[in-house]
Amino acid sequence: MSLAGKKIVIIGGTSGIGFAVAQQAATVGAEVVIASSNQDRVDAATKQLGAPAEGRRLDVADGNAIAEFFEQIGEFDHLVYTAGESLLIKPLIDTSPQEARAVFERRFWGALLSAKYAAPRLRDGGSITFSSGVLAKRPLAGTALAAGITGGIEALTRALAVELAPVRVNVIQPGVIRTELWDRSVPDPEAFLHDAASALLTQRVGTPEEAAAAYLFILDNAYVTGTTLAIDGGAALA
Ligand SMILES: NC(=O)c1ccc[n+]([C@@H]2O[C@H](COP(=O)([O-])OP(=O)(O)OC[C@H]3O[C@@H](n4cnc5c(N)ncnc54)[C@H](OP(=O)(O)O)[C@@H]3O)[C@@H](O)[C@H]2O)c1
Repeated sequence: MSLAGKKIVIIGGTSGIGFAVAQQAATVGAEVVIASSNQDRVDAATKQLGAPAEGRRLDVADGNAIAEFFEQIGEFDHLVYTAGESLLIKPLIDTSPQEARAVFERRFWGALLSAKYAAPRLRDGGSITFSSGVLAKRPLAGTALAAGITGGIEALTRALAVELAPVRVNVIQPGVIRTELWDRSVPDPEAFLHDAASALLTQRVGTPEEAAAAYLFILDNAYVTGTTLAIDGGAALA
């Protein structure tokens, strides 16, 4: 199977892993649509990708906006979901119910509703690829929310792979990847990434390009569904 000529929608495609997916998909001849909540970021990323990329503003906290977005997109081939704001790393007892629910809004409900509205518009051979994270299997103190969401996304993936078949549904489980996410999630990103690297079998963190290659593999391989693919520098074993 080839991705050339396929229409790929990447929600969260203006930064980090999603942007690298958009770049690699465009390089192999796919028609790319990227979306995220900040219009300036959408414009800058679309410009950087060049034609034939299209950029659209979408805030995945707004369920009606997600429905409208897919109505406007029409038929397409593959959905990639990498949207997520900064991580809330905080002990549960210090986390307010509002904070906790807000994080689920984008990372869990946004993903579920995107799949709901995308599925009827996917062409034959289509797929949905979500993003989880290594915290689903190796949580740290202060990451209960992230672990709950990523574990939920992985279970959702398996359930939708069964329910939506033959549409393929998979999830990429990144370990620590050097992206803008960390600039907003930890007080000292460089120190965090340095410490994270020294705890890994690879002795370094991953790049957005390495993570994106895992998404491209999943999009391209028509025999992969219901799978969680880790790309984590050996974090599960370190
Ligand atoms: N980087 C890592 O080490 C790592 C590790 C494990 C898991 N992951 C997961 O992998 C995914 C991608 O991470 P990343 O590192 O590439 O993050 P990133 O560079 O921060 O990119 C996140 C993307 O999500 C978009 N976004 C944020 N809020 C949104 C909203 N309300 N509606 C629509 N789009 C929204 C952002 O654009 P706007 O700001 O314009 O909305 C941006 O395009 C996330 O789910 C993350 O949790 C990352």
